[in-house]
Amino acid sequence: ADKKMWGGRFSKGTAASMEAFSESVSFDRLLYAEDIRGSQAHARMLAKQGFLTEDEGRTLCEGLDRVKAEIESGEFVWKAAMEDVHMNVESRLTELIGPLGGKLHTARSRNDQVALDFRLHVAARLAGWQEKLAALITVYVDRAEEHKDTMLPGCTHFQPAQPVTLGHHLLAYCQMFKRDHERVADALKRVRVMPLGAAALAGTTHPVNPALVAEDLGLTETFANSMDAVSDRDFVVEAVFAGSLIMAHLSRMCEELIIWANPNFGYVKLPDQYSTGSSIMPQKKNPDACEIMRGKTGRVVGSLMGLLVLIKGLPMTYNRDMQEDKEPFFDADRTVSASLGIMADMLRLMEFVPEKMAQTVRRGFLNATELADYLAAKGVPFREAHHITGAAVAYAEGKGVGLEDLDLAELKRFSGEIGEDVYAVLDYHAAIERRITPGGTGPASVAAQIGALRAWLGSL
Ligand code: ARG
Repeated sequence: ADKKMWGGRFSKGTAASMEAFSESVSFDRLLYAEDIRGSQAHARMLAKQGFLTEDEGRTLCEGLDRVKAEIESGEFVWKAAMEDVHMNVESRLTELIGPLGGKLHTARSRNDQVALDFRLHVAARLAGWQEKLAALITVYVDRAEEHKDTMLPGCTHFQPAQPVTLGHHLLAYCQMFKRDHERVADALKRVRVMPLGAAALAGTTHPVNPALVAEDLGLTETFANSMDAVSDRDFVVEAVFAGSLIMAHLSRMCEELIIWANPNFGYVKLPDQYSTGSSIMPQKKNPDACEIMRGKTGRVVGSLMGLLVLIKGLPMTYNRDMQEDKEPFFDADRTVSASLGIMADMLRLMEFVPEKMAQTVRRGFLNATELADYLAAKGVPFREAHHITGAAVAYAEGKGVGLEDLDLAELKRFSGEIGEDVYAVLDYHAAIERRITPGGTGPASVAAQIGALRAWLGSL
């Protein structure tokens, strides 16, 4: 077996089962670029501080570039016996440039090294989520604009409630995803903290300059407490929480699309590219992409729970348990990134069916509130207006028609206050247009929402 870097005090080799149990290189090799970037910044800092000569600093950085090239060309041989990405990279560096490679780890521990690598990685991935969120919001805004006048039965309790526009409904999702974007930005402030210099836990006797490394790596802050620096995993919990909420929002949309695509609703035709057929029922077109996304939401939430349980009993400072922090993030990241991209593409390609939405609006007495409000405006106490309207609805339902189909004499039987002007109020589109509340479903508000979102997208 390969000689362990920490093998000095050991007389017996590691058990094969222990080697397989403890290795992390099979997954943390994903951090190779950040590991190398971090090491190069560390080497430059050691040279600037006079701990290495300029020449030594340069040789280390060039050697690390060679290791990176080997990894990227596929010729690098990853060794489980070397445990993790950090030791794999360093041992290859030493093979390539000789004993100088052994100086790289001066004033550093894998404890602060892994924290740095993981922070750099999480930061880069979260920036990717932000880009994908912005792209998704852009598609939502485009489709909302296209359907700013399309009438949709707005629901509460999943029962048809009042007419809204499909545009207004889609813009509601924009607000969720915009908050997600802001949440990620906020989490990033706490991800972009430089832990190097904390060393194992107590700091180091060498004259390191953490601020210099932070600047080199584009990190905004340096650690305030070395023990916290090597034991803090809040940043990944927050990242996966933000990811869980993104998935929950996507999953709500998926749920609606699954229902809307059911022929009993028929509000949407999902794109063939994101649907599948049945091996036995030739007529079937299944909304599998939505179902998988809804299912994978549980998986991301599971990662969040796993991380919280992982850290809850850990004493200070670094504990090897923390090696288990990576796979939940990697897995959540794959899911969040893929889901955001697929939802954007699916939304761009799906075909809405406005006639089906309008049918439901007409069948569901969605103008009942309008009649009650009309009576209230004429001085009838709202509670009474509500009761009168309920009776009119029951009557119309018995006849199998809408309120707007009753003639004036029929309507007057419910209240003498009802006049010819009621028909303008019972018009479904008017119900939407009369909703002038800022942020409501009225056309001015929908236009304002679209404008504000486009301005926000442009400011990113
Ligand atoms: N593979 C380890 C991890 O992911 C790296 C740090 C190991 N440090 C140590 N002292 N054993 O957490």
